Amino acid sequence: MRGKLVVGNWKMNGGLASNAALLVALLAGWKPRADRDVAVCVPFPYLGQARDALAGSPWSWGAQDVSRHASGAFTGDVAAGMLAEFGCRFVLVGHSERRQLHGESDAEVGAKAVAALAAGLTPIACVGETLAERDAGQWQAVVGRQFDAVAAALEKDLPLAVLAYEPVWAIGTGRTASPEQAQEVHAFLRERLRQAGAAGVRILYGGSVKAGNARDLFAMPDVDGGLVGGASLVATEFLALAGA
Ligand code: PGA
Repeated sequence: MRGKLVVGNWKMNGGLASNAALLVALLAGWKPRADRDVAVCVPFPYLGQARDALAGSPWSWGAQDVSRHASGAFTGDVAAGMLAEFGCRFVLVGHSERRQLHGESDAEVGAKAVAALAAGLTPIACVGETLAERDAGQWQAVVGRQFDAVAAALEKDLPLAVLAYEPVWAIGTGRTASPEQAQEVHAFLRERLRQAGAAGVRILYGGSVKAGNARDLFAMPDVDGGLVGGASLVATEFLALAGA
């Protein structure tokens, strides 16, 4: 039985004061459940703050990106070993905003996932098609290609990763995939995982997840939780959806 995992992705939001209030509210409001893991992925400068607030609690924390390199002349980049020093459990790799705004290739995403695992972090590898790709009937080709790159990079370590299906057309748009649409893609990914000997990998859904739609999404057999942007910045909303 795959327990559910709900991860907040703060993106480039927050500040010391508002983070403190949010983290306190998450700690105070969460009722631990054996079948559910909860985490927040915060901007790099706030990793220490997240660690100090959340250490010893049911909440895990992580980052939103990582370098494929372990160290060296890569100005502005952050290595997985540095994230590990701050107690990170997770790191997102291949978020669509990284792919679109920073030109990250499938191979780059795979290399980042490898770097994360090498430092003892769990990569949450994001895949998902654009609206144009969906309308052109290409989601299987796109999601399959993105998955294959991660699987090829991780090889036997694929079972240690987490996947997130985030249709680009549903991110920050308020336009959520229906539970059935999400399940269709998740089942496709599950079959790929099974063929790769990694059927137990958790597949999160992301894209306008809210308290009002989380229960129906999480009820789908291959939806193992959520990767949540906007709604993770509002404690009451995030707590409600994480417990849905
Ligand atoms: P959203 O973002 O929940 O604001 O749509 C999800 C994500 O990009 O991870």
